[in-house]
Amino acid sequence: MHKLCSLFRQPSPVLLFCLQAAIAIGLFSLLCWVTIRHTVGEIDEHLFLKVTQIQHLPPDEIPARIAMDTSDDPENKRPYGYFSPRGEHIVGAFETLPSKVDGKPFNLIATLGHQAGDVQRHYRGVVVRLPSGGILVTARSTDGEGHFDKVLLLIAGGSLVFVLVIGMVSGTLVNAAAARRLRDVRRATQQIASGRLDHRLPLSGSGDDIDNITAVVNSMLDEVERLIRDIQGICAGIAHEVRTPMTRMRGTLETTRRRTMSVTDYEQVIDTALQQSDIVMTRFSALLRIAQIGEAAVLARKSPLNLQDVLNDVIDFYEAAAEERSLTLELLPCVPAIVNGEADLLFSAFGNLIENALKFTPPGGAITVMLHQRDGKVTVEVRDTGPGIPVAERDLVFLPFYRAKHQAGTTTTGSGIGLSLVAAIARLHNANVSIREGGPRCCVAVVFESGMHIHPAGASREEVDCKR
Ligand SMILES: Nc1ncnc2c1ncn2[C@@H]1O[C@H](COP(=O)(O)OP(=O)(O)O)[C@@H](O)[C@H]1O
Ligand SMILES: [Mg+2]
Repeated sequence: MHKLCSLFRQPSPVLLFCLQAAIAIGLFSLLCWVTIRHTVGEIDEHLFLKVTQIQHLPPDEIPARIAMDTSDDPENKRPYGYFSPRGEHIVGAFETLPSKVDGKPFNLIATLGHQAGDVQRHYRGVVVRLPSGGILVTARSTDGEGHFDKVLLLIAGGSLVFVLVIGMVSGTLVNAAAARRLRDVRRATQQIASGRLDHRLPLSGSGDDIDNITAVVNSMLDEVERLIRDIQGICAGIAHEVRTPMTRMRGTLETTRRRTMSVTDYEQVIDTALQQSDIVMTRFSALLRIAQIGEAAVLARKSPLNLQDVLNDVIDFYEAAAEERSLTLELLPCVPAIVNGEADLLFSAFGNLIENALKFTPPGGAITVMLHQRDGKVTVEVRDTGPGIPVAERDLVFLPFYRAKHQAGTTTTGSGIGLSLVAAIARLHNANVSIREGGPRCCVAVVFESGMHIHPAGASREEVDCKR
């Protein structure tokens, strides 16, 4: 029973094909049976009509009528036979009386006539005892109908065989093509499994179901490859960032061990070691924070919020710091834009961007925050009048611990973790963060893929978008 159920849940192509062939043969047989029944019914009706016509004739006129009909039918297609009550032949092409005189139509084979070319024919006939006592045999040749049946059988059987052959050939071809593609996919999968992460599954370009699944798997592999490269970059970054303070700490401790020093000197060395270990701890905490951002609990805290409110809070928070550095910090007029998000994380992301702008913009400069919405996408831009980020480093700065080269030798502090934190928060909000062309200035844009726009009553589109 279980086997039968699984057969219906996952029918094999061969089983389906056999089922279709059986249905086709069944339908064809039904068609033949109905056609033959109809033809035979018509012949029988005609025979009984003839019997009725002759029955109603006066008994002495019957032989003359039969003789006339027989002479009108030289090929014996509608033959008669008239016999005496005792079965002696009187008139008609049938000279021998068939054995059953029951008035029921039956099939018979006979050679009528006495000429050399006369052949055996198939007939449908009936033998009836007339009220006068005489026995009437009337029949009709069925050779024409037999021929029609043969042609019908030939056409239908031929088309059936043709359809079956075409079905089998095309099924085999389709099966072979699918098997070939699956073989290619299996080979490519084995290569990927053996460590060739840059390898992708082959696409046929037909856009069918296998292609769609393959494309999804390929994009998944792209993401896996990107993640692995990110992890490699992060590992290299961690090694680099931790090695510097650890080397310093080890050097100081080694020197101290070799020299005889006062208690105050030892205290200083311990302070330096503590400072360096604090740096290591801070960097690990930052990494932990990025790791925690992807956790499900954070995802659950997301709810629709107005980005305008979040940005106003961030501007309020950093206003004093900007003033201290003689920088202007403003949010350009804009309208509410709703996204599904987590307020604290978004505050932290935009806060990081403003902290960078504050850090890298020389005194007297300006920091401008913009919020606008176009084509269903909500964009937040943080611009400053600082040195900007070189084009070649615009992707690299999002890697943990990466600091742009132009920062080397400057006095700005930082560990290079801020922008990777922003990127992680953006990913969590289905947003994309990038460094845009801002002339010599820096422009960081966070684009949320789906935003909900609230049009203030009566506001036109131009008023709604941010003035740029
Ligand atoms: N507004 C900016 N102007 C110029 N350079 C920037 C700006 N924001 C970020 N950067 C560059 O990107 C690097 C990475 O930034 P971030 O991850 O925040 O690290 P950090 O601020 O600790 O240096 C910075 O070191 C800096 O070189
Ligand atoms: Mg920073």
